[in-house]
Amino acid sequence: MTKEPIQLKLRPFTQTDFGHLISWVSTPETLGQWCAAFFRHPLDEDQLQRYLDSASQPNVRTIFTALAPSGEAVGHIEVSMIWPHLSSRLSRIIVAPGRRGEGVGGAMVARAAAFSFETHHVARIDLGVAAENAVAIACYRRQGFDHVGTWPQAIRMGRQTIDVCWMTLIRTDWARSLAADAASGWIGSA
Ligand SMILES: CC(C)(COP(=O)(O)OP(=O)(O)OC[C@H]1O[C@@H](n2cnc3c(N)ncnc32)[C@H](O)[C@@H]1OP(=O)(O)O)[C@@H](O)C(=O)NCCC(=O)NCCS
Repeated sequence: MTKEPIQLKLRPFTQTDFGHLISWVSTPETLGQWCAAFFRHPLDEDQLQRYLDSASQPNVRTIFTALAPSGEAVGHIEVSMIWPHLSSRLSRIIVAPGRRGEGVGGAMVARAAAFSFETHHVARIDLGVAAENAVAIACYRRQGFDHVGTWPQAIRMGRQTIDVCWMTLIRTDWARSLAADAASGWIGSA
């Protein structure tokens, strides 16, 4: 039997989120797994302030904190590379370490994808994920993302190189799964 999706809200990322986000990526490994080389270890408020400031320019990025029904911040996700009517990208995806494996990641990806399809009217949403990150790949597949190709040795992390899987969710597939969810009575309020 399919599980009922977890209820989550996405709200804009703010300075009040800096502390918990920093605590979620406290080692070079966890920071690299989350964002490759986008931020430098150790993550700090200066880097996050520049990141937040960059979101004020149109169509650069929209950054969200995911909130559980209790109001607890349980995740972080970003929509960027926004080309209205063409494509956008999900990135910087992370779930609070104590809340993984409960469906939070899937629900957050589903909400961010719906936001971008509805707001940016894009035809597809892409994301890149380390080929070795089986949990993340399983999570994205579950939300309808297909593996469309692999970029070998795309990222260097220390002495290691990492292959990146590119995954895509096509608008027509998303709309079809939304219709199926509606038929099952599982469309909640935003
Ligand atoms: C990747 C991440 C966001 C997923 O969030 P989450 O809340 O744990 O994800 P979900 O619970 O929605 O889904 C995880 C899926 O992986 C599956 N899974 C769990 N352990 C697994 C494993 N070792 N191998 C394969 N799949 C696994 C779960 O069964 C679940 O699939 P299901 O929904 O079909 O049951 C979270 O693990 C995380 O923050 N990781 C660290 C940062 C990171 O790697 N970010 C991704 C950068 S691209």
